[in-house]
Amino acid sequence: MTAQTPKVAINSKPAEKKVEVTVDGKPFTTYMWPDSLEKPVLYPINTASGTTITRGFPPLANERQDHPHHVGLWFNYGDVNGFDFWNNSDAIKPEQKAKMGSVEHREVVKAEAKGDHATLQVKADWVSGDGKTLLNEATTFTFRAAANGARMIDRVTTLAAAKGTGTVKLPDNKEGALGLRVIRALEDPAEKSGEFKDAAGRVTKMANMDTSGVSGQYLSSEGKVAGAVWGTRGNWTKLSGKVNGKDVTVAILDAPGNPGYPTYWHARGYGLFAANPLGQSALSGGKDTLNFSISEGTPATFRYRILVLDANPTMVNGRVVGAAAVALVMVTGATSSVALAQAAKKKGAAKAAAGPTPTAAEVASAEEAYKTKCAVCHTPDGNSPIEQMNFADGVWKHGSSMKELMNTISEGVPGTAMMSFKTQFTPGEIAALAKKVRGFDKKLK
Ligand code: HEC
Repeated sequence: MTAQTPKVAINSKPAEKKVEVTVDGKPFTTYMWPDSLEKPVLYPINTASGTTITRGFPPLANERQDHPHHVGLWFNYGDVNGFDFWNNSDAIKPEQKAKMGSVEHREVVKAEAKGDHATLQVKADWVSGDGKTLLNEATTFTFRAAANGARMIDRVTTLAAAKGTGTVKLPDNKEGALGLRVIRALEDPAEKSGEFKDAAGRVTKMANMDTSGVSGQYLSSEGKVAGAVWGTRGNWTKLSGKVNGKDVTVAILDAPGNPGYPTYWHARGYGLFAANPLGQSALSGGKDTLNFSISEGTPATFRYRILVLDANPTMVNGRVVGAAAVALVMVTGATSSVALAQAAKKKGAAKAAAGPTPTAAEVASAEEAYKTKCAVCHTPDGNSPIEQMNFADGVWKHGSSMKELMNTISEGVPGTAMMSFKTQFTPGEIAALAKKVRGFDKKLK
């Protein structure tokens, strides 16, 4: 049987304050803005086989009851002109409310399905506790279903400073920005204590919870694992585990060109999985600072992909390989937006034109990197049986000049397993890698 192209449908129900997205008639996710939430969210989110990856809303009896503001997948921030949008929920005491902020859904601009994907365009306003609109948000979601069962959500959010605000400040803050709260089974089994409901329905702190059936493990694009991911940067982080005995993965992918790229990960073992590109100081212990702001007339755009799989992709040398690699790397190389990929390429090419001369240390580390990071796909002697991955056959799909090769290695090839390496190497190492790769082609020597 050949895999059928899945059919995505989208159904806007403004009276119920939600937009439902289905794949072949089965629920994928719902964009919702109920009065009980201080921001719109995607909830729940399901894999192709129907496994829900998001914590219950409200949390189920067997789940942690903490952080009531963690619901589904959302985007906001802990400090916008001094107002806390992240922690706001109906659990906040009335006297604290004035310090908080809410993202208020305004309008569904477009909800349209086409074959294997659907587009949802929405408008929202970021309103401070004293009733002022600080930011106007325009977000486009693209919900995709692949025949191999992969589910994807691309989120492109543009934030513009509202008229008359001047500059809106989003200083470094731990709480941000793209957040996801996952089900109990995807928590880290090392997290044993927390607030749970007891038999009588009371929320109590428990010191030593039973962690059977809990198996979540983070892995970042930089090879960091579990608790070590928190406070580090990377193009992507995936969270894999077994839910009812079946492999499940949810990954968040950052995109080149995003503010603060590559993002810091605010990824916690208790089930909060967040990409925080703006909280650099808080997440790096003061090593980096950003203190981001958005001035009137100069909007900022944030692009992310969320990938949901009924699988746990294979790792070789700290890298994702196989079919899932394509899905993960697709975005580490670029986003779904072709224009963005081209812009990134141009930028990379301009940088490469002034290519640096590698130091001896950089040449040595590039030799080592070829073995550990490239040979998995390109083979140790560069003579891969797969044509487009072969460096020895004299055919160069993306150009054989130093400049072109450095660009390919820096930016990757969008839509293929060839990922962007610019965050992993110095410009000198990239130049040394380009030279190494050229060396496999006898004609170029
Ligand atoms: C996960 C697999 C994977 C890894 C790891 C990988 N590549 Fe690639 N690479 C590919 C694929 C697939 C292509 C072909 C892309 C296409 O279809 O155009 C490619 C293409 C290339 C090309 C362009 C070749 C041409 O014909 O123009 C270069 C150069 C390259 N890779 C260098 C590297 C270097 C250097 C590394 C290590 C730092 C690396 N790659 C790591 C999968 C990988």
